[in-house]
Amino acid sequence: MDSLTLTINGEARDINCDPATPLLYVLRNDLDLTGAKLGCGLEQCGACAVLVDGEATLCCNRPAGEFAGKEIVTIEALENDAVGAAVQRAFIAEGAAQCGYCTAGLVIAATSLLKANAAPDRDAIVAGLEEHLCRCGSHGRVIAAIGRAAKEIGNV
Ligand code: FES
Ligand code: FES
Repeated sequence: MDSLTLTINGEARDINCDPATPLLYVLRNDLDLTGAKLGCGLEQCGACAVLVDGEATLCCNRPAGEFAGKEIVTIEALENDAVGAAVQRAFIAEGAAQCGYCTAGLVIAATSLLKANAAPDRDAIVAGLEEHLCRCGSHGRVIAAIGRAAKEIGNV
C-alpha cells in the first residue's frame, strides 16, 4: 500500500492510500473528516471545498498527492480561525442553510473570500460564491451572512 503525508488542520497525518485518490475521499474515508461533502464529484458544485494554503479549493477530483506540503484546513477546524469562526457565527445568525449539504463548502468559500477581501460588496460576494450551488436556494441568506461576518470582522 502506498502512503502519503498531508498537513491537515495543523497536524501532519500519515495516510496509507494511493496518492492518486482524490483528496475528498482521503479526508472522508481515511480520516473520518466528513464535513466536506461529495456532491457532483466533477468540480461543479462546491460541496467539497476545503482551504488549501488559505484558499477555497475543490478537492473531489484532484489527487491527494498534489496536496503534499500544503496546509489543508477542513470545516472541522475552521472555528480555530478568527475569520472562519466569524463566518460560522454569521451563518447561524442568518439561518443561512436549509438541508445543509452545501453549507460546509459555502462557509469555506466565504472564509477564503473574506481573507482576500475583508469588505466585499454584494457583487464581490456573489462572484466569490460562483462555484457553489445550493439546491435549497439559500443563497440570499448566505449573502446576508457573509455581509454580517464582514461587518463583525471590521468591528474587531
Ligand atoms: S463535489 Fe466537488 S465540486 Fe461538487
Ligand atoms: S442548504 Fe440544501 S443544498 Fe444548500
